[in-house]
Amino acid sequence: MSRIKLLIVDDVDETRESIKRLLQFETSIKVVGEAGSGKEAARQAEVLRPDVILMDINMPEQDGLSAAEEISTRFPHTNIIMISVQGETEYIKRAMLAGAREFLVKPFTGEELINAIHHAHRLEKLRLESSPHTPPPAPAFDPQVITVFGTKGGVGKTTVAVNLAVSLQQLYKTKAALIDLDLQFGDVGVMLNLSSRRSLIDLAMAGGDITPESLEEYLSVHNGISVLAAPLKPEYAELITPGQVEKIIKALSQTYEYVVIDTAASFNEVTLTALDRANQILLVGAQDLPTVKNLRLSLEVLEALHHLSKTRLILNRQNPELGIRTEDLERALGIEVINEIPNDVKAVSSSVNRGIPLMETAPQSKPALALRRLAGLVHDYQKSLDGNPFPAKRGLLSRLVGR
Ligand SMILES: Nc1ncnc2c1ncn2[C@@H]1O[C@H](COP(=O)(O)OP(=O)(O)OP(=O)(O)O)[C@@H](O)[C@H]1O
Ligand SMILES: [Mg+2]
Repeated sequence: MSRIKLLIVDDVDETRESIKRLLQFETSIKVVGEAGSGKEAARQAEVLRPDVILMDINMPEQDGLSAAEEISTRFPHTNIIMISVQGETEYIKRAMLAGAREFLVKPFTGEELINAIHHAHRLEKLRLESSPHTPPPAPAFDPQVITVFGTKGGVGKTTVAVNLAVSLQQLYKTKAALIDLDLQFGDVGVMLNLSSRRSLIDLAMAGGDITPESLEEYLSVHNGISVLAAPLKPEYAELITPGQVEKIIKALSQTYEYVVIDTAASFNEVTLTALDRANQILLVGAQDLPTVKNLRLSLEVLEALHHLSKTRLILNRQNPELGIRTEDLERALGIEVINEIPNDVKAVSSSVNRGIPLMETAPQSKPALALRRLAGLVHDYQKSLDGNPFPAKRGLLSRLVGR
């Protein structure tokens, strides 16, 4: 395999040296040149034709951003990774607009650097391989989008979403993807101990078309499932639009038989998109009074949005000795409980704290068995109940009043 040719651009000699040290044992990457300014970088790029350029932002003469702009226009097959001590959204945005494919915040580890270089390089290869004139082949399966929802915080949405995706993949040997749409405080990454720093924000900021191929670069594969993680910082959430979320779900449905979506505990525009696009909505509840009150409100809104027919209720942290009886709850809410996940603090906490799915840490525990049963119910669900899986959208309020 040929090595990835890398050009390092930074005005500080020491930084360039330390980057070379981080890469000294990495046989897949070859440092072909160095430059101390944006101007020199453009000259070197012309001569050396590197595959990837690592470019500092703040440099004398010509800064990294304008150099990136020039280089990405003249040499579109060279991928630029921007490096900076500043990781603010504005900086990332400007870097991406200047044509950078990746953004690394200093200081970074050798692993982060190597991963970023590989990602940038793979992205380019994928781009070259996918001809723009060939339409994407229709999937040979009927994709299922499953949105896990609940307006009560801490009720177990993420626990259910993570373990459901893993179970579907394990039980049915299918491809399963998991999207963390709890954009501000998503913790799928923590529950799966994801080391990758790539997330929805990188994808959103990269611009360009969202296709199954371009998406692959932003997925972290863990326990057999592909995960699209939430941004690392809450302030990035607002940069991700419902339109992008829609495209992501559509693109993933082309290659993944199951797309499981974890959501935030509120009806925001992004959650609404995930509910609209779902073939199945799993509403997660519990047996305490505040949660029941919340469930009633959620069901009313889901009914107003015409989503009730694809909504199914599950109860988490179930304890037969405590709380409201399931039959009473079903009667009060007028909806059947299709699955009850027992409360098992020891098993679930240990899984959450280790960042390993329950299916791995305690596959025979009662909650794991219930979650596997849930995967069976999801698998057997009559597909595409919703006649039109991509209906026109409007905001929550106008949809509620205008129905
Ligand atoms: N069946 C269970 N038994 C015992 N503990 C559980 C169970 N399910 C979830 N928990 C615990 O409850 C906590 C909250 O769960 P989780 O993060 O899945 O909820 P969430 O609805 O996603 O919360 P948020 O609204 O904050 O996103 C977790 O720390 C987990 O350990
Ligand atoms: Mg959660």
